[in-house]
Amino acid sequence: MRFLSGIQPSGTPHLGNYFGAILQHVETSRSLGPDDSAFFFIADYHALTTTQDPEKLRALVTDVAATYVALGLDVDKALLFRQSDVPEVCELAWLLSTVTGMGLLERATSYKDKVSKGLASSVGLFTYPILMAADIVAYDSDVVPVGQDQQQHVEMTHDMVVHFNATYHAEALKRPEWKLSPTPRVCGTDSVSSKMSKSYNNTISIFADGKDLKKQVNAIVTDSRPPEVAKDPLSLAVFQLLALFLSVDERADWEQRLRQGGVGYGDLKKEIMTRMDARFGEARARRQHLVTTAQGQEELEIVLQRGGRAARRVAATTLARCYRAVGMDNAARRLGGAPA
Ligand code: ADP
Ligand code: TRP
Repeated sequence: MRFLSGIQPSGTPHLGNYFGAILQHVETSRSLGPDDSAFFFIADYHALTTTQDPEKLRALVTDVAATYVALGLDVDKALLFRQSDVPEVCELAWLLSTVTGMGLLERATSYKDKVSKGLASSVGLFTYPILMAADIVAYDSDVVPVGQDQQQHVEMTHDMVVHFNATYHAEALKRPEWKLSPTPRVCGTDSVSSKMSKSYNNTISIFADGKDLKKQVNAIVTDSRPPEVAKDPLSLAVFQLLALFLSVDERADWEQRLRQGGVGYGDLKKEIMTRMDARFGEARARRQHLVTTAQGQEELEIVLQRGGRAARRVAATTLARCYRAVGMDNAARRLGGAPA
């Protein structure tokens, strides 16, 4: 089984990113069987649809790589690389774009959401799902672990693969499946019904510590009911956020105590901070080393380049297969693909 996922370099990771995406990627890398492989890449080509500041992009790409390595992605078993180290995906995106109807892209909810939030509706933003499909099929991926907001893009990839293979009467591309994380939707600090997102200013950063962490956790919205009043745990953002860190038994215990009365919001917030320090303390220090020291940056660069080279070999093989399918044997030869 081959797993693949892309991560947009979009800012300091928060609990939503961690429980909705990163954790699943790290766990996948650590539990690969002998016949499994995993590809994780930093979607820097995609990032250009939203970030057009070179210094910021450089910093964000390093930050994502450091975040994954610090949180324990097993880089000996899984590949971690930059999307732009595999330029073949852009060629593949072109081939896919010629078999993709406008109607399919017009249905993309993520495009509509981004435009309604004020992002410039560039051609790149509109064709974003095609590049994403190219990322997925380039490596013959079987399973794509994603957050709920990306599910539609993987379904669209499925449609593009079916069209491409049918148009060229070839099984050139593999159909992928998506897989949602066990926590596909983490609520924000403002309410149980909102989604944690950097665009809503309701996040808790996984790498915040000390006073900064305290400030973010204290910002979780609560009401003025005193500790002795019984509360419905499911209606509390502060409980939902703590629950992310609890085992089944621990969760049942906290729920029961909340329903009985006697637990204050301060107790829940304190427990969140304790759990965050325990879960992320070591990773914070490792990330700091990777981002701020020359040695750390070199370590990251080695990992990324090694991943990029290995990924590129796989993508070139797939692209050559597609070029042969469409009748461009010259392009397949350029990539080292044998003629059909
Ligand atoms: P943001 O909403 O803060 O801009 P991104 O869109 O950059 O976050 O999301 C990066 C990854 O994290 C995606 O895979 C997305 O599905 C996941 N993700 C983001 N927010 C949440 C959330 N609140 N709950 C679960 N997963 C999330
Ligand atoms: N669009 C994804 C996101 O915003 C990032 C991404 C790019 C991706 N290419 C991908 C995810 C391929 C999965 C597979 O989170």
